[in-house]
Amino acid sequence: MVKGRDAGDPGSKDGIKRRIEELREKVRYHDKKYYIDNDPEISDSEYDHLFRQLKELEERYPEFKTQNSPTQRVGSGEIDEFETVEHEVTMLSLDKASNVEELQDFYNTVQDTLNENEIMLIMEPKIDGVGVALTYDDGMLKRGATRGDGSQGEDITENVRTIHEIPLVLNEDSILRDIEVRGEVYMPLDGFKNMNETREEKGKEPFANPRNATAGTLRLKHPREVSNRPLSFFAYSLGSHSHGEFSTHWQMLEELGIAGLPINDHVREIESMDHALELVETWEDKRHALNYDIDGLVFKVNDISFQEKLGSTTHHPRWAIAYKFPPKRKTTKVKDIEVMVGRTGVLTPVARLEPIHLSGTEVSRASLHNEEEVARRDVRIGDVVLVEKAGEIIPQVIKVMKEERDGSEQEFVMPRHCPACGSEAKQVGDEVARRCLNASCPAQVTRRLEHWGSRDALDIDGLGPKLLQKLVEREIVISIPDLYTLELDDLVHLERMGEKSSNNLLQEIEKSKTAGLKRVLIGLGIRYVGNYLSDVLANHYVSIEALVNTSKGELEEIDDVGEEIAESITMFISNSNNLDMIHRLQELGINMRANELHRDLSQYLEGNTFVFTGKLDNFTREEAAREVEQHGARVTSSISGNTDCLVVGQDPGSKFDNAKEEDIMIMDEATFIKMLEEETFPPVSA
Ligand code: IVH
Repeated sequence: MVKGRDAGDPGSKDGIKRRIEELREKVRYHDKKYYIDNDPEISDSEYDHLFRQLKELEERYPEFKTQNSPTQRVGSGEIDEFETVEHEVTMLSLDKASNVEELQDFYNTVQDTLNENEIMLIMEPKIDGVGVALTYDDGMLKRGATRGDGSQGEDITENVRTIHEIPLVLNEDSILRDIEVRGEVYMPLDGFKNMNETREEKGKEPFANPRNATAGTLRLKHPREVSNRPLSFFAYSLGSHSHGEFSTHWQMLEELGIAGLPINDHVREIESMDHALELVETWEDKRHALNYDIDGLVFKVNDISFQEKLGSTTHHPRWAIAYKFPPKRKTTKVKDIEVMVGRTGVLTPVARLEPIHLSGTEVSRASLHNEEEVARRDVRIGDVVLVEKAGEIIPQVIKVMKEERDGSEQEFVMPRHCPACGSEAKQVGDEVARRCLNASCPAQVTRRLEHWGSRDALDIDGLGPKLLQKLVEREIVISIPDLYTLELDDLVHLERMGEKSSNNLLQEIEKSKTAGLKRVLIGLGIRYVGNYLSDVLANHYVSIEALVNTSKGELEEIDDVGEEIAESITMFISNSNNLDMIHRLQELGINMRANELHRDLSQYLEGNTFVFTGKLDNFTREEAAREVEQHGARVTSSISGNTDCLVVGQDPGSKFDNAKEEDIMIMDEATFIKMLEEETFPPVSA
């Protein structure tokens, strides 16, 4: 795609080398803006354009390829074994304070040892991830290693290179060239949630928390797989004795920031112990607003000469302490065990708990998964149980306190009939779950509608479970399309639904029509097809027609779709009730085309409108439309003043003549294919 002007002076190798260097600098700059400063200056498509230009030049001139180019983050090979590395300077741990008294003791000891009254501290969040050491030689990332036991770790260079927050090259404005940076690799909570959802969709065991997910990911043998997991990084210190240049920890962090390393936004200078105690209290709640887990606050003596005076034990420095937040586990009583009916009819026992405050929210329920699990753990109504929030997200019963039993506890018996509709609930095949097999069971219908309106799906605000239950009970709504024929009169007479909230809901429902294919797919609730796979499918098929006309074989060719998932999708699209529902939704004006496409698809056709006429040899009309729409173009059925390009196949219709009159670009199929390959518009060969 790099043609003439873009390639600099095509005659001179120096010119090309300069152009490559320039592009690398630009990509690095925009990577930092995007990943570290969270303040992108260019659009995704502009970024893709730069990246692609660089990649193509490097491919054409392999003599200028280097390991440190932003195009070389992800290696394609497999790691044989993680080599052991010795840490030149031991990676110490941190001493812990479990309460404010222990924190105060730490400060008193520091005051006494230094014989100073006021000691400036630095507070840093204690990131709950995996500690790593990154070695830079002359500003180039040479090695990444885990902390291991502190003196020996594992070489995970190939894997840390895939983390965009870790620069492959340090900024030249910084004095730091030969350093060992220490910091924490972690997984942001939103990424963790999505990743676990996908794992569950694929029938894989979800990770218990983001820390385990991070540790597991860093030990994967395929860097390409690591690059697909949402890891990130914060730097917090220098390992070797390159401290020489700095008199304070704060200065050192500032310099790490100048070098291009990500420093946590919440790091603060602390003037007094009172200030430290205040922060401990505020952060108890504030931490729940972060998009990553922290398990405490680290306080470090700021003055490096003081740090040296205080020294270290073999285990931890005496100039720092980690205040650990109280555990996220609490005991409470099981008031009852209820059975919930899911949208696919699965019956799930749920413990109703005496409400407790845990990780910033009130917890009054915890899933007990299935009857086998209840029996295995022997959870009884009236039991005292230990509840934990895994990865700050789902409350779980982790232990039954059997010693607290007084004999009044009641064993739980899984009902043999659906608690909502009374139909028989059966175990099908070798499934552990018991299911209500009545597809029109009101509980299932309510749950399906609730799922359709949920945030990640069609995001219909105000469509809560209580309202849905009423609509379903009164048979005003019995399936998803019925939502789109609701009228004011159907709603205003319901309890707690005034005219205003009814109108708001109708507006929300109307708005949801434009949500697009990805959200529609999430909303349909096809087994295994959650957030991630819906995105993959929407990007691949672009329209619902293409998806319902697909085959199991074509589905299996998609990277993330295995046999089981393909089977589940084919089952869904071959069921006539489902197809009827999709058609009805289309008739009601629900947009079923993809309108969010991946960052890595170049949007080089953005702003252009295409029209097709005649029969193409290599594409169906749908496929051709999908090809251009994926890259930002609009497709319309007839020529107008807005048309930019007409693609002409065999036996074209009158559109061909219209286009000639209107001075619109006309493209034959060969040129169309060339354009798709080159990702350039107008195509060079046109
Ligand atoms: S400083 C010599 N700062 O906590 C001091 N550690 O329990 C070395 N950690 O192994 C560590 N956030 O992996 C430091 N802001 C922070 C941290 C932090 C998380 C981890 C680190 C360390 C462990 C000690």
